Amino acid sequence: MNEVFKEERGFFMVKRIGILTSGGDAPGMNCAIRAVVRAGLSYGLEVYGVYDGYKGLIEGKIEKLERKSVSDIVNRGGTILRTARLPEFKDEAVRQKAVDILHERGIEALVVIGGDGSYMGAKKLSEMGINCIGLPGTIDNDIASTDYTIGFDTALNTIVDCVDKIRDTTESHSRCSIIEVMGNRCGDLALFSGLAEGAEMILTPDHPIPEEEIIETLRKMKEKDSDKRAIVIVSEKQYSDIHAWARHIQETTGFDTRATVLGHVQRGGSPSAFDRVLAARMGEYAVECLVEGKGGRCVGIVDNKIVDYDIYEALALPRDKHVSMLRIVDILK
Ligand code: ADP
Ligand code: F6P
Repeated sequence: MNEVFKEERGFFMVKRIGILTSGGDAPGMNCAIRAVVRAGLSYGLEVYGVYDGYKGLIEGKIEKLERKSVSDIVNRGGTILRTARLPEFKDEAVRQKAVDILHERGIEALVVIGGDGSYMGAKKLSEMGINCIGLPGTIDNDIASTDYTIGFDTALNTIVDCVDKIRDTTESHSRCSIIEVMGNRCGDLALFSGLAEGAEMILTPDHPIPEEEIIETLRKMKEKDSDKRAIVIVSEKQYSDIHAWARHIQETTGFDTRATVLGHVQRGGSPSAFDRVLAARMGEYAVECLVEGKGGRCVGIVDNKIVDYDIYEALALPRDKHVSMLRIVDILK
């Protein structure tokens, strides 16, 4: 395959690539790993799995992956390569250790699946001579160079499933339910789940609503109809104590109020069909990028087309790609 490739394109492609997952895990990461391994093998490459993200990389936790190593993982949440955070990777000396280990093992290029922090690590490794391609693996959908990240759709469906259940009891008691969802300062999980649930209120960092307005809206709602129930979806990291805030809402609006923090349940579970397909398309594309000699780039889906961006350019894009959905939320209130 390498010889054929050289004849067609005039240069030798990489022979040995690695793959790792980094930062918070996300459903669909396994599908992306499978796609990278199988696409790599179909190009005649050797593919190595790096365990525990950048941390495992500098510890040399690297194993060769075969076709069978990635059998029966498409339906599994989490990541078979495990993941980790290593803040020290910002330090060039630590990254040099990673480069040395990759040279020792003859691994010339890497696919890095993770969020924006992992992308920065990938870009910097590329600048040190190891071509890296980033795949967006995070439930937060906080990467502007892609309409959707791997894991977002599954997490969204988990949230909708949970809120459907909370809705039953909220309705029975004519209560106000405040539901805190993840997102790491990106409001997409709250916005999409809020729209999917027809929530009375969606509170995200992208469109903050003044406290008085929140209270006034809920107070009037209850005053107009004492049987009224309300669903309020809140993006995490806006209130230091969501339960205390729920008590405050209860005291000021007349709504019997409860808060639920959905937490890490949002990060687990079998990936949705959408995430599996997305991960397969992106994983295959990442390998194509590496065999074309690209590095320091990240893969995205834009208007259903798989594309790649320079990582610095991707990270500088504005993050408000879905904010126009707020108009629909308002119209449907
Ligand atoms: P995510 O990739 O999900 O955004 P983090 O922000 O925790 O998660 O980043 C994952 C890892 O990427 C970090 O633990 C660190 O190892 C690496 N990383 C983050 N920022 C940088 C940076 N500026 N330079 C090099 N590596 C970085
Ligand atoms: O980036 C994914 C995410 O789940 C965020 O939504 C959340 O803020 C964060 O990771 C939680 O990280 P952890 O609990 O793993 O430290």
